[in-house]
Amino acid sequence: MKNFEVYKLWPVELAKGLGAKLWDKDGKEYLDMYGGHAVISIGHSHPGYVSAIADQLSKLGFYSNSVINSLQSELASKMGEISGYQDYSLFMCNSGAEANENAIKLASFQTGKSRLLAFKGAFHGRTSGVVAATDNKAIRAPYNRTSKVTFIPLNDISAAERELAKGDYAAVIIEGIQGVAGIIMPHDKFLTDLRRLCDKHKVILILDEIQSGCGRTGRYFAHQFSGIRPDMITVAKGIANGFPVGAVFISPKIGAVAGMLGTTFGGNHLACAAALAVIDVMEREELMKNATIIGDYIAENIGNSVSVAEVRGRGLMLGIELKEGYEKIKERLLFQKFVFTGSAGSNVIRILPPLNLTIKEADIFISAFKELEKEIQ
Ligand SMILES: Cc1ncc(COP(=O)(O)O)c(C=O)c1O
Repeated sequence: MKNFEVYKLWPVELAKGLGAKLWDKDGKEYLDMYGGHAVISIGHSHPGYVSAIADQLSKLGFYSNSVINSLQSELASKMGEISGYQDYSLFMCNSGAEANENAIKLASFQTGKSRLLAFKGAFHGRTSGVVAATDNKAIRAPYNRTSKVTFIPLNDISAAERELAKGDYAAVIIEGIQGVAGIIMPHDKFLTDLRRLCDKHKVILILDEIQSGCGRTGRYFAHQFSGIRPDMITVAKGIANGFPVGAVFISPKIGAVAGMLGTTFGGNHLACAAALAVIDVMEREELMKNATIIGDYIAENIGNSVSVAEVRGRGLMLGIELKEGYEKIKERLLFQKFVFTGSAGSNVIRILPPLNLTIKEADIFISAFKELEKEIQ
């Protein structure tokens, strides 16, 4: 049997990682400004994380959700504290798409409706329910079930008002910051107005913080800059630094009852140990503060470059939009300077590194970027 191909591959086989450094199988060193797609929050092979997982595995790696697992309540309590959502409940699953699927299911249960309002450029996952809420032709094709989702432009509150007034919506789903679209930010005022509209029309507000959450922007969630409180928040990626965990934060106003949601693997002992270790490191090493300092430093030093049209984002979730003619910088960062970055289209470089990136590592990236810019000029 051969592997089913998912993405176009970079010709690199990685063998080792430490902090924001990676090594391929021949020992070549790389700088990780991509975090394996916003997943690596506390750095590769963090010793505290490795020992917490190894310790848990030596005791009990897995048992099903049919027995008491006090690690789940410990995690819910710690997650509530670090995020400021102590009064919500935490449903654990295995991925971002699964978190969104469950949130949508709860919204439809709560309202008795099924239509979703989503935003142009949105990405919410690839499974059959959420791919319909993903506004990206390449990802949807050849899947085309559009019937229950309406897309409106981000930050267009009049369009939201027009749609929600129709009365058949279960939920609005919105990313904390749009990632795949190229680091596009919902305005704080737009989020507060959207919250008000959802209350007015009794529609559930789901914040997809799968890419933008878990401290990446300098706050635990990107929407917290606006001060709103969504009805549900979905997380994955950085929550467990690479151990596959997804989760839904569920507001007490959602009438979810025991037995409505379930999963075999979600919330298992190893998954909880991994997520607990991430919170522990984030707090001890003040990684949200670091994300703000280093993110601002990169934005400041890259923002005025001749090749850059705009730098968008917050903390260590940045999009560097390149001017026409400079698109080659992205590829050359990897093949010439051995720096991993993400992309969005051909002209946006996405910066999603581990949150413990140092100033020295940020400087390596900035110098590499400026050298390539000069070469291309
Ligand atoms: C905003 C957002 N939502 C949902 C997902 C889907 O997550 P997963 O790939 O874990 O299913 C992603 C993944 O990139 C994402 O960025």
